[in-house]
Amino acid sequence: MLSVKHLIDTTSLTADDITQILDTARSFSEVNKRAIKKVPALRGRTIVNLFLEPSTRTKSSFELAEKRLSADSLSMGGATSSVVKGESLADTIETIDAMNVDMFICRAKLAGTPQKITEHTDAVVINAGDGKHQHPTQAMLDLYTVRENFGHLDGLKVAIVGDLSHSRVCGSLVPALKTMGADVTLVGPPTFQVDDPSYYGVPQTADFDSVIPEMDVVYMLRVQLERMEGAAIPSRREYNRLWGLDMARVGKMKPGAIICHPGPMNRGMEINADVADCARSRILNQVNAGVLTRMAEMYLLLGGENNGVSA
Ligand code: NCD
Repeated sequence: MLSVKHLIDTTSLTADDITQILDTARSFSEVNKRAIKKVPALRGRTIVNLFLEPSTRTKSSFELAEKRLSADSLSMGGATSSVVKGESLADTIETIDAMNVDMFICRAKLAGTPQKITEHTDAVVINAGDGKHQHPTQAMLDLYTVRENFGHLDGLKVAIVGDLSHSRVCGSLVPALKTMGADVTLVGPPTFQVDDPSYYGVPQTADFDSVIPEMDVVYMLRVQLERMEGAAIPSRREYNRLWGLDMARVGKMKPGAIICHPGPMNRGMEINADVADCARSRILNQVNAGVLTRMAEMYLLLGGENNGVSA
């Protein structure tokens, strides 16, 4: 069992919680390779996917994970939900809750929305990304990918590079990596650096080239163009020159070091097209790990281990 009822942020997770999620995900990897990719672990459980902001990989990954666990699920959001008719979030949640659902998966533009939902339902809530705040299920798939590659997380040197201040991926990945004993460095343009680095308690620099040779993992963040209030960066080309990952920089990485990116990528900006597809890239492994780790999170949070059906 996890020590939390909901999965809202990674700061609330203990090392034991994270290890349980990663180990359970691993046990599901075999299921996902079968011709019939389904186990009855969450049969009869009802899950609502409430996506109030666009999403491709996170939404499809949750939906597949639900199907593979045999849960009943429905997806709503955007133009199909009454939120666009002006219904308050509280009314929407209480309405769905009255139908006796077991879990809400929520993606929202506004930071704090998943936490708010917990006040209006007894169901379990998973944060699938809220504004600039957190994206804990992304952090778990990232940790899974890195752990599968190196066999451990403690002591690894990880650079998280790019749009630090607008990134919920960074917001959840840094605490999770620290909890698991990794050594994190933030790299980004001064305009994208976090205001209060002591919040994370990790070093921050603008000098990408100086850190590359030491790193085991170079994690590139998407520049959140939709969250830019003004011209925070000079130009796409200039950004690429100073903070983009190109083959020349890849050539300075140490043997065995890997590249990650949460997707979707701005190819040619934070990462060059040939880098995204090179041998060090683990970007598609991350997508694959997304289904496994989300299966594990839903299974553990819904008490799957106590329902008499094993994976
Ligand atoms: C991330 C997100 O939405 O925060 N994408 C994702 O969930 N795979 C990262 C991003 O959009 O930059």
